[in-house]
Amino acid sequence: MSHLIAPSLLSANFLKLEEEIDMVNRSEADWLHLDIMDGVFVPNISFGFPVLKRVNQVTEKPMDVHLMIVDPDRYIEKFREVGASIITVHYEACTHLHRTIQAIKQSGAKAGVSLNPHTPVLLLQDIICEVDVVLLMSVNPGFGGQSFIENTIRKSRELKSMIMEQGSDALIEVDGGVTLQNARSLVDAGVDALVAGNTVFGSTNPIETIHLLKHC
Ligand code: DX5
Ligand code: ZN
Repeated sequence: MSHLIAPSLLSANFLKLEEEIDMVNRSEADWLHLDIMDGVFVPNISFGFPVLKRVNQVTEKPMDVHLMIVDPDRYIEKFREVGASIITVHYEACTHLHRTIQAIKQSGAKAGVSLNPHTPVLLLQDIICEVDVVLLMSVNPGFGGQSFIENTIRKSRELKSMIMEQGSDALIEVDGGVTLQNARSLVDAGVDALVAGNTVFGSTNPIETIHLLKHC
């Protein structure tokens, strides 16, 4: 399987959201990445249900919803209702992660768990067979356009070995500072899905940039 590309809408022009989503529809992107921030778990606030609901009416790509919020259990059903295909919660925000993962799956969505840059991959060893996606943060969550943290390459390799050893089907997704320069080394380290915000929406030809990321 070729690796997947998930443009992050956070870096799009919000005044032209329909055009931006249409561009993603016409591209080789596999998922549309949507960053939900609550101003508590991360020092920023993004967008919420009314926006997702409208995005879902226009996007032809599965909605990959990244929840950077505390107590995500409260909103799982609601995110599913507005069209999330993948719901990813943060390891650091979940006291009962196993229960949260089961609730996401029960809602009908794929279940993802995200690790902040400081959180070791090792902490997933008792849950790795339950999750569909592991989202490794390669920047501190909260903002687009930050620089890639190099240690993510080593973490990706370590996670890939854990997945193989345990026979898990989990996909590895990397989020933050992904560029045309580091995409290949991530894929070589075992990464299955690349999120890209600024690299895609900040480029003069986003469709071509998505193509280049897809065939890096
Ligand atoms: C950061 C978000 C990312 C962000 C990535 O907290 O989770 O998805 O949009 O943006 P870039 O690719 O610009 O680092
Ligand atoms: Zn994200």
